[in-house]
Amino acid sequence: MPKALIVANWKMHKTATEAAAFVQALQQYPQPEDRTMIICPPFTILGVLRNQGVPYGAQNMHWEEKGAFTGEVSASMLVDQGCSYVIIGHSERREHFGETDGTVAKKVDAALANNLMPIVCVRSVEEVTPDLVGKEIAIAYEPVWAIGTGKAATPEQAQEVHAQIRKLVGPDVSILYGGSVTADNAGSLMAQPDVNGLLVGGASLDADQFWKIVNY
Ligand code: PGA
Repeated sequence: MPKALIVANWKMHKTATEAAAFVQALQQYPQPEDRTMIICPPFTILGVLRNQGVPYGAQNMHWEEKGAFTGEVSASMLVDQGCSYVIIGHSERREHFGETDGTVAKKVDAALANNLMPIVCVRSVEEVTPDLVGKEIAIAYEPVWAIGTGKAATPEQAQEVHAQIRKLVGPDVSILYGGSVTADNAGSLMAQPDVNGLLVGGASLDADQFWKIVNY
């Protein structure tokens, strides 16, 4: 099993100035060696993270390499911005922007073809489709009722679903939990055998809070 992945999903938050302040605050702390901390800011401020010693990624991408797709960004453009990761199929993308298991599969293949590590979000075991199995991805299980509500899954609830996902994807895929993760519940979630990382929204916007989560 690879190192634990602790991922900040900033969603549509932060200006370049705010992101730079966050990075500066984080750099006061020693980097943990036994886990990987990843920041996923909006596209517009990916450049702020370049050469800061923190791996980073985007929150979305298009599956085509280039073309007439106004407003979209391709995998190679993300690589060009120094990204190593990309979140794909977040619940909010599925809900508000019409993403489906089909578009998620196309994005995963395009990301992998460009050496970007996809962090594929699923809201249920059913969304772990055969298209995702056998690929070098991470999966983030995020129950819709837990996202941004302050009501995280209990560690036992998370483990139960993660164990079902584990049966489908095998031992080598990191399975992250997301949905109302805080510094208070991060440790008990990470203590579960099939919880290999965390995808953190609201609590990742403050550097001190996020640092506490990273050090669950
Ligand atoms: P939350 O968001 O931590 O604010 O619940 C998680 C997510 O949507 O990735």
